[in-house]
Parts: sequence; C-alpha cells; structure tokens
Amino acid sequence: MNSQSFDLTVEDLQYRVKDGASFRTILDINHLDIVCGEKVGLRGTSGSGKSTFLKLISGILIPQKGDVYWGAEAINRLSESQRDDWRGRHCGFLFQDFRLFGGLSALDNVILPLTFRGTITQADRSRAKTLLDACAVPAQTQASLLSRGEMQRTALVRVLMSSPQVILADEPTASLDHDNAIHVMDALFEAAENLKATLIVVTHDSSMLNRFRRVLTLEDGTVRGA
Ligand SMILES: Nc1ncnc2c1ncn2[C@@H]1O[C@H](COP(=O)(O)OP(=O)(O)OP(=O)(O)O)[C@@H](O)[C@H]1O
Ligand SMILES: [Mg+2]
Repeated sequence: MNSQSFDLTVEDLQYRVKDGASFRTILDINHLDIVCGEKVGLRGTSGSGKSTFLKLISGILIPQKGDVYWGAEAINRLSESQRDDWRGRHCGFLFQDFRLFGGLSALDNVILPLTFRGTITQADRSRAKTLLDACAVPAQTQASLLSRGEMQRTALVRVLMSSPQVILADEPTASLDHDNAIHVMDALFEAAENLKATLIVVTHDSSMLNRFRRVLTLEDGTVRGA
C-alpha cells in the first residue's frame, strides 16, 4: 500500500446514541482531512466526543451517516471482521482504559496482537522484552498487578510492536507523572516519525498540545480548527 492510502477524510459524519426514548447526536462533522504522516493533537471538554471520534475513525464504531475514508477505503462500509482486520494491520490504538488482558503478563499482552499477522518469532519476543525494559515495565508481571503507569506504558509498547501506519492515542499521559508523560509522548512522536505514520493524540495537557503544529478542538459535536 502506498503512503497515499493513509490520508484520512471524514465526510458528512453523524454519530448518535440512544438517550432514553430518543437519540442524542454526539458528533456531526461536515468535513475533515488529515494528511498521511500528520501529527495532530485533539482536545475538548469531558464528554465532547473525543474517544468516540477515535473509535469512529478506527472503525470500532460506525457512524449512522457519512463516511470515514483512509485513502480510497471507506472503512465504515467494511464488515466488522474486515474492520478488525484493517485495524490489526494498520492501526495502533492506545486506549484511555488500556484494554490489557489482566490475566496475561505484560510481555504476552504486548505480543498477542502479532498473532493476527502470523507466527510470533523469537526476534519478536526479544524486541518486546527490550521495549518493555526501556519503559521500565516488569515484563513477566501479570497485567492486573501492574501500576497504572506501567499499564499505560505496556499499552504503548503494544502499539509500537505492530509498527502501525496510523497511531491513535486517547489521553496517553493521563496516568503518568511528568517525566513518564514526556517519555510516552517522545516515544509516540519517534514512532510516528520513523514509521511515517499519522499520529492523533487526545490530551487535555497543554504542555503536550504545544508539541503539535495542528490542534483540533471538539466542541458542540463538531471539529474546530479543521
Ligand atoms: N454507547 C453510548 N450510549 C450512550 N451515550 C454514549 C455512548 N457512548 C458515548 N456516549 C456519550 O457520548 C459523549 C461523548 O463520550 P466520549 O467518551 O467520546 O467523550 P470524551 O470527550 O472522550 O470524554 P472524556 O474526556 O471524559 O474521556 C458522552 O456524553 C457519553 O456519555
Ligand atoms: Mg475519552
């Protein structure tokens, strides 16, 4: 796939949720372009729809109206399993709630997604161990026993392991002290730079937002600064 395939275009998108007997519109975005390789900060008040937006552009959720194109592919038109496959191949998602498997070690959490792409090699295991060490995560510890900061960094390593073309991070520094926050943000920028990946980061932290040349704001269900 050429790099052109990872330009993001959101067209005439609406996402509504059930609210009692009626529906509430969470997002209503007329048009948004993010060029392949761009690094974009996304802010907005709590409940403004930031997490929902990331889930829509990664095909975890599908809009009731409109399209999410990555290149020529409208991913919302794919079946659920095709969307899962697309995400597994191209998208690293750092979730607000980490989404680790509590019963598995940090190391197994990090290498698990690679099984969707083929067999896990010894080289994969060593790379995972090296990255976890570099992030000061005890690789053999069960994920449920890790500190929140260690969970966050494990989730980061899981994203880095898959060398994605699209990196989405939902408040990746929220659980971290200042030094660790800088470490995680540095790692995201470095990975995006090396992979020429698109990076979209939700954050409330103005010192983190300052790193982005382009900052979008979600307000009243739509994107400002688009
Ligand atoms: N499945 C759902 N059913 C009903 N309401 C929902 C659903 N999913 C999201 N919402 C609502 O949509 C709005 C946006 O939620 P979202 O989690 O995207 O906000 P956010 O900007 O990420 O907030 P935060 O900064 O607190 O993480 C919220 O009001 C939330 O309650
Ligand atoms: Mg959120």
